[in-house]
Amino acid sequence: MSESPAPETAEFHHAHIRTFKPRRGRVTQKQNAALTNLSGPIITVSDQLLDFQTTWPGLDDVVIEIGFGTGTATVAMAMADRTTGLLAIDVHTPGVGELLHRIDEEDLTQVRVIEGDAVVVLKQMIPTESLAGVRLYFPDPWPKARHHKRRIVQPEYATLLATLVRPGGFWHLATDIADYAEQMIEVLDASLEWVGGVIDRPTYRPVTKYESIALEAGRSITDLLYTRV
Ligand SMILES: C[S@@+](CC[C@H](N)C(=O)[O-])C[C@H]1O[C@@H](n2cnc3c(N)ncnc32)[C@H](O)[C@@H]1O
Repeated sequence: MSESPAPETAEFHHAHIRTFKPRRGRVTQKQNAALTNLSGPIITVSDQLLDFQTTWPGLDDVVIEIGFGTGTATVAMAMADRTTGLLAIDVHTPGVGELLHRIDEEDLTQVRVIEGDAVVVLKQMIPTESLAGVRLYFPDPWPKARHHKRRIVQPEYATLLATLVRPGGFWHLATDIADYAEQMIEVLDASLEWVGGVIDRPTYRPVTKYESIALEAGRSITDLLYTRV
């Protein structure tokens, strides 16, 4: 009998602090149809390492996107570069349906999708130094100070990601929350495995759904780019 809970169990999911806010969201008919009929790109959460060669045959670079939301950036960036494998992870079912629909529409054969907790995926499924990079666009802000521990950019996860991203690989982050940008800089600058800092918004990153709401509310956006030493 295994000592730790199985990854698909609720017990396992609560073994670490949750970084996402559970939210209800109506799954539209279109999304539901995609979830049922277009599930080919879905990879289920497991405790087995993903075999990158069989998942992305012939592709040298695989990037993960943590918290893709509705998949705006995922789709636009996958359309612009079909030779980079992409693993898009989110817990939000309507967004998963939306992304599956768009993957089918645009024939994005290099994109795989996981509906689940990215922390679990990172800990269980990603081989050491296998990733070309990580995209983290507008992670849940957790504005209250007592919730800051739920923010995904923490020393622990910066170290975990450093073990999974190969040397020379990147971590691109964006946020609309000023004190979260500061936290990102503090965590990453304190880490010996990452070098980088604030950059101008790169043209290759499209405006995401969440970002457009932030812009409408008058918040300014910070992009950060770090390289794995
Ligand atoms: C504020 S939204 C931003 C979504 C999208 N990147 C955008 O810019 O429109 C943050 C997203 O991250 C997801 N998320 C947060 N923590 C996560 C985790 N540990 N695993 C998977 N998804 C997570 C949430 O479900 C949510 O969809």
